[in-house]
Amino acid sequence: MQPGFRLEALPGLIGDQDGTASGGLVGGNEPRDPGFAYYYQNGRRMCQAVNAAWALQDVGSGDGGLVFVPCSHKSNVETPDDVATGKGEMGVVLQPELQAGDLLLYARAVTQGVRPWHNGARRLLRYEYTARGVIRDRGAGPDTDAQPVPEWMGDMSPEERAAVHKPGYADTTPAPVLNSDGGTQWIEHGVDPVHPSIYVRDPDSGIDENEFYFWDLTGYLVLRNILTAEELALANEAVDRFEDRIVVGNELSGGSTALAGTGRPTLGGLLQAPEPYCLPFRRMMAHPAVTQRLNWMGGSGWRCGGPTAFCAVKGSSGHSLHDANEPLVPSRSYVFQNGRSYCEAITVTWQLRDVTETDGGFACVPGSHKAQYRMPPGVRTCDDDMGLVTHPVMNAGDVLFFMDGAQTHGALAWTSEIARRGILIKYSSRNFNRSGGAMVHPEARWGDLVDGMTDEQLAVMRGPDRDVRDANVPRLDVNDGEVAVSYERTGALYSREAPAGPVAKP
Ligand SMILES: [Fe+2]
Repeated sequence: MQPGFRLEALPGLIGDQDGTASGGLVGGNEPRDPGFAYYYQNGRRMCQAVNAAWALQDVGSGDGGLVFVPCSHKSNVETPDDVATGKGEMGVVLQPELQAGDLLLYARAVTQGVRPWHNGARRLLRYEYTARGVIRDRGAGPDTDAQPVPEWMGDMSPEERAAVHKPGYADTTPAPVLNSDGGTQWIEHGVDPVHPSIYVRDPDSGIDENEFYFWDLTGYLVLRNILTAEELALANEAVDRFEDRIVVGNELSGGSTALAGTGRPTLGGLLQAPEPYCLPFRRMMAHPAVTQRLNWMGGSGWRCGGPTAFCAVKGSSGHSLHDANEPLVPSRSYVFQNGRSYCEAITVTWQLRDVTETDGGFACVPGSHKAQYRMPPGVRTCDDDMGLVTHPVMNAGDVLFFMDGAQTHGALAWTSEIARRGILIKYSSRNFNRSGGAMVHPEARWGDLVDGMTDEQLAVMRGPDRDVRDANVPRLDVNDGEVAVSYERTGALYSREAPAGPVAKP
């Protein structure tokens, strides 16, 4: 908050003390309410309303009371009714556990509410602070009962009075809603503020709005029970059959204690397996349930690399968490605009076996696709994850989508006696290259037009190449007024087509 924050209302105990709830969840960032919104820019936070809850008694898991949806202060999608009412919370609603004496601070902009107390009411004392200029509720003093009407306002119409209302009184809080069709105007009573949009929600978009909310909020999505029993059996049989081709790769814990272990075992070549073993993987690659989601998540025209089976065994290392919205990489970013999800890189993982809470495997930081701060080292290694890392529980036949590159993700070390069976397929949007390819080479793209060109000229005649964090393509530098190509390698993420030095033919 900025200096000068104020107590908006008198402190009060959260939730009816007789154990009943206070209604559905409120708040969230869509539609945006500037009077309690979360603003962040260039290192400065301006959260317009912050609640502070003091625990006067312990509040255990499942006790009920205060709940909220983490990350929803940045949500672009309206809270679905199922989440607001508690009918279908999709695992996004958190009931914080507190000990007597704890202080919980939470943005007013997160979707929040009060569920019934289950084991007797707990004492949680809430203070609501707002930024210095925010207009929200009126105070409790006797002067707030009615706006004084000076003599000069006496002859004004109600519409004219609305235009000069003074906030802070019972009859001006909430503010009067003066509406107009352009020709006439009138005061609306008992309605939400009027704020028209040029867009109309499309009930025929084919998008499940609960899915869209979950995806936009968290950066991942799990569809349940998509593979048939036959597909699942055949895919598992294929992995069994080619188990001897599993390759144990690098240990990927990145110096983490929590994720340390042995190298990561994977199995490729699944599309090339003899029939019928290739068939389930071909279907997974362009499965109707995947196509429908990819099209609204990032638009059509996507393409994928081959599926890879992730086959971690007990003791296999995790993969230290990587990627986020900060630093931003456009070719693998997430943007929401005017009702559309623009996600440029999506990874899909089909589960061939159940993944329990304790097995290990995929893990992510929900909401990190909108992070404005770099990930702290403890989150990267999971050695001090601040409770931010989620490990979704999945069943054989489920399919996971996540924002590869935009969302902070990785894997926990595998602890189960039963090996992991996740079929991972990486999709790129039509807009960016992710892997190099023959058309990177100037002569492939332009033919003999590039004959005789210098290295500097050839560097700018290259086709779209792999685009990642590092300066991973030949690029022009200016030194002492002279242009030269830099082939310097700043990391490991180069395509096969990236030259290590000059390419011009003498
Ligand atoms: Fe990754």
